[in-house]
Amino acid sequence: MLVQGGEDFGNLTLTRFYAIHAVVLPAALVLLFVLHRAASRRHGRTPPPSLPDGAAATRYFPGQAFRDVVAFVLVAAAAAAYAKMRGAPLEAPADPASEFTARPEWYFLPLFQLVRLVHGFPGSEFVGSQVIPGLVFLALLLLPWIDRSPSRSPRSRGVALAVGLGPLIACVLLGGLAAFNDANDGELARHQAEAREDAQLARTLFVKNGNSAPPEGPLALLDHHAPRLGKRVFAEKCSACHRLDGQGGVKGPALDGYLSRKWLAGVIKTPQDPRFFGTPGFKETMGSTDAKPDELDALAAFVASQGAPGSHRRRPSSADGRSGRRSSATPVTPSRATTRRVAPRTSAATAPRSG
Ligand code: HEC
Repeated sequence: MLVQGGEDFGNLTLTRFYAIHAVVLPAALVLLFVLHRAASRRHGRTPPPSLPDGAAATRYFPGQAFRDVVAFVLVAAAAAAYAKMRGAPLEAPADPASEFTARPEWYFLPLFQLVRLVHGFPGSEFVGSQVIPGLVFLALLLLPWIDRSPSRSPRSRGVALAVGLGPLIACVLLGGLAAFNDANDGELARHQAEAREDAQLARTLFVKNGNSAPPEGPLALLDHHAPRLGKRVFAEKCSACHRLDGQGGVKGPALDGYLSRKWLAGVIKTPQDPRFFGTPGFKETMGSTDAKPDELDALAAFVASQGAPGSHRRRPSSADGRSGRRSSATPVTPSRATTRRVAPRTSAATAPRSG
C-alpha cells in the first residue's frame, strides 16, 4: 500500500517506483560495494583453481584491470551500436479499449513463466513470484556457510556449483519455455500484430500532425483516425454477429469484401449461403445502434472500405460511394439499403493506414 501509493496502481505508484530506482537502489548498490570491498580486504583475493593450494593470487592491477577495461569498452560499444541501429522502442499509445496482452521484457520471462507454472491454488501468485525466488536467493546468500570446503577445485565443490548454476539453468529453461508458449499462441500473435500496426500508424499520424501530439494526448491521434476508429467500434458493437477477417459471430452476414463486385456476385449467385442471407441470425432483427454520429460515419466508411481490392487500404472512390446507414430498427436488406452520398473524407481518413 505504501509502495503502491494508494488502493490502486496509478501515478503515485509510478513516482514511488521512480524514487526507489533513483534513490534507494543506487544507495543499496553503494552499500553492497562497500561490503564487497571490506570482505575482499579481509580475506584477500581468491586464486584460480589452477594454482596450487596456498599460492597467492596475482595483483588486480594492471593485468586484470586492463582486461576489465577492454571488456567494458567492448560491451559499451556494442550497446551503443545496437541503440543507434534499432533506436528507442516506441510502442503505440496506451489504449484502454484495445486488447493488450502484457508480456515482460526477456529478462523477466523466467519469473513470468514460473508464476504461470505455479498456479491453481490460493496465493499461488505470491508463491511463484516471491517465495520460490526468495528461497533461491536465500540459498545463494547462505552459500558461504553451506560450502566450507577449503579446496577451490570445481570438482570438489558440487554443492556450491549446483546452488550457483542450478537457478541460472532453470532461468534459461523457463525463459525458453515462455518464448515457446508465446510463439505458439495465435491470439497473442494477433494482438501483437495489431499493436505493431497501431505503433506504426501512431508514428505516421504524429509526423503528419506536424511532429506533435494533440493536447488530449497521442491516443487522440489514433482515435480521430476514421479507419481505426471504425475498426474498433466494429469490434465492440458489431463483431458479435458479423464475421470479418475470420473473427466474429455468425448471426449476421459476413462482411468480408462487403459491397465489392465479388461480394455482390456471391449474393446474386447464392443468396442463401450462410455468408449472406442464410445466416441463422436473420430471424433476429439487427436493431439500431447507439454509436455516436462520428462513430457511425467511421463505421460506414470502414464497412464500405472492405470492398477495396486487396486489403483494407482506403480508396476514396470505392470507400465513400455508399454508406449503409440505418436509422430505425427495421431490418434492411441490400435492395432496401439507403444509398447516400457522404461528404468526401478528410485527407487523414483516406490516407493509407501505414507508411
Ligand atoms: C444482433 C446481431 C447483429 C449486430 C450486433 C449487428 N448486426 Fe448487422 N446484421 C445482422 C443481421 C441478422 C443482418 C441481416 C439483415 C437484418 O436482418 O437486419 C445484418 C445486416 C447488416 C448489414 C447489411 C448486410 C447485407 O448483407 O446487406 C450491414 C452492412 C451490417 N449489418 C452492419 C452492421 C454494423 C456496422 C454493426 C455494428 C453497429 C452491426 N451490423 C451489428 C445482425 C447484427
